[in-house]
Amino acid sequence: MKGIILAGGKGTRLYPSTKVISKQLLAIYDKPLIYYPLSTLMLAGIRDVLIISTREDTPNFERLLGDGSHVGMNICYAVQKVPRGLADAFIIGESFIGNDNVCLILGDNFFYGTDITLVLSRAAGRRRGATIFGYPVKNPQDFGVLELGRDGKVLSIEEKPSNPKSNYAVPGLYFYDNRVSDIAKEVKPSRRGEIEITSVNNAYLKLGELHVELFGRGITWLDTGSPSALLKASTFVETVQANTGYYIACIEEIAWRRGFITKEQMTAIGESLKMTEYGQYLMSYGRECVYE
Ligand code: G1P
Repeated sequence: MKGIILAGGKGTRLYPSTKVISKQLLAIYDKPLIYYPLSTLMLAGIRDVLIISTREDTPNFERLLGDGSHVGMNICYAVQKVPRGLADAFIIGESFIGNDNVCLILGDNFFYGTDITLVLSRAAGRRRGATIFGYPVKNPQDFGVLELGRDGKVLSIEEKPSNPKSNYAVPGLYFYDNRVSDIAKEVKPSRRGEIEITSVNNAYLKLGELHVELFGRGITWLDTGSPSALLKASTFVETVQANTGYYIACIEEIAWRRGFITKEQMTAIGESLKMTEYGQYLMSYGRECVYE
């Protein structure tokens, strides 16, 4: 399975912070925002990743993550010239996807929690159809929203409805089979002029091939699109890391635990960052410390 991180857009809701830098390069506590969606893909077992961004920002992502080989990944890049909508990722990424299935994660979406790896592997393991998720929020009108029947079956998905039919938002994490690029090409632009991911999901629903999983309370999903949401996410990460001693979205640690790189490779990266707590954390594994 391939992975796509969509890290485009102008980030206008975060101006002036994002006037000269992409939102996905801003820090969530101690690491750039893009580390979080990247770590989610890694936990799903995905090693081939395409990062789609703007012409201005793509070189910065390349400087940050390179070809991904330091974390045992294969990362490549593509430019989205105009922000045409999320479904455009499957048109831009068509040759990258090739004959595989694909997972799309939005560059500003943060996931953390119990059994997340299990949920991700289950979705990644489905050969056919699409898998999306539902998560209860207080402001469903700001998202794609599930309409659920009495038996819990999904009847439709509405993009930013003024009268949401449930409080279940659809997070920016989607798994599709190989038909997705063809389906995306058929999508007509919405009123906001974008080819919506919600239209792609409704197409799979119509085919009877949309799996929807509801996240329980053990999972935290944060969309980090506003200054207060960024702060909330930073505070969350700081709290969990300080309390448990385990890092969230430490891509080198995940790479080592998954067997993508050796302990020695991870420790060497730690050495190069040893003036930071992040580097010391990586080195502590090399010393067989308590965390393991
Ligand atoms: C997008 C999708 C929406 C989804 C949300 C998740 O919204 O269109 O369906 O719920 O991401 O973050 P946007 O970020 O384009 O407003």
